[in-house]
Amino acid sequence: MSEVRKLIAGNWKMHTTLAEARELARGIVQGLGADPQAEVAVAPPYTALAAVAEVVAGTPVNLAAQDVFWEEKGAFTGAISPVMLVDVGCSQVIIGHSERRQHFGETDATVNRKVKAALKAGLGPIVCVGETLAEREAGHTLQVVERQVKEGLAGLPADAAGRLVIAYEPVWAIGTGRTATPAQAQEVHAFIRTLLPELAGTPRVRILYGGSVTPDNAAALLAEPDIDGALVGGASLKAASFLAIIAAAG
Ligand code: 13P
Repeated sequence: MSEVRKLIAGNWKMHTTLAEARELARGIVQGLGADPQAEVAVAPPYTALAAVAEVVAGTPVNLAAQDVFWEEKGAFTGAISPVMLVDVGCSQVIIGHSERRQHFGETDATVNRKVKAALKAGLGPIVCVGETLAEREAGHTLQVVERQVKEGLAGLPADAAGRLVIAYEPVWAIGTGRTATPAQAQEVHAFIRTLLPELAGTPRVRILYGGSVTPDNAAALLAEPDIDGALVGGASLKAASFLAIIAAAG
């Protein structure tokens, strides 16, 4: 068993109007009760953060954003700073999601700047890593993940361990219905843990799995010793399926 409480985080991506976001958040809060089996976070789009913050205030559901810029303020049209995320009620932020890397030019260097800025502002970063199908088939999975972890997390303060979360999301498993097997995920999670000796404090850094997690496959994945939770996309957009995944963590 892992030594830390599991974290189930929902990444809503570019989904939900304000009304849909409120309804989804209410459904999760109502279904969860006061003492859920796991720590829970939801990451709505920026436009819905304030509305969802109101719904989850005083509940066990934490608010996360899907991205952040590294500067505090200034002439950066379209960007959102860590301070703004704290101000709206976020305690965590997803950084370096493969969709950001693929469509928005995110690199390990920008990930590193964002992680440091998030930590400085008091946010817990959820840093995403993972190989493409071509990289896996070429036998480069561990090499790619090692580069992403070492460069994305270079130079962090040792006390970051308690707040830092890593999400292993193989790109070929995202939105495809093709989940990594528990053994495939466990292999990479255990490897990632060996890359973080300087962050090996207590509590240990949580490593989530993401990529086509559903109520049907969650329990088997979460039973692996180095899988400390899940980062859920599609199945987090319905309260019932997200709640079933949280229940599988217990
Ligand atoms: P899916 O669960 O839709 O595959 O998305 C995973 C993901 O990218 C979460 O960040």
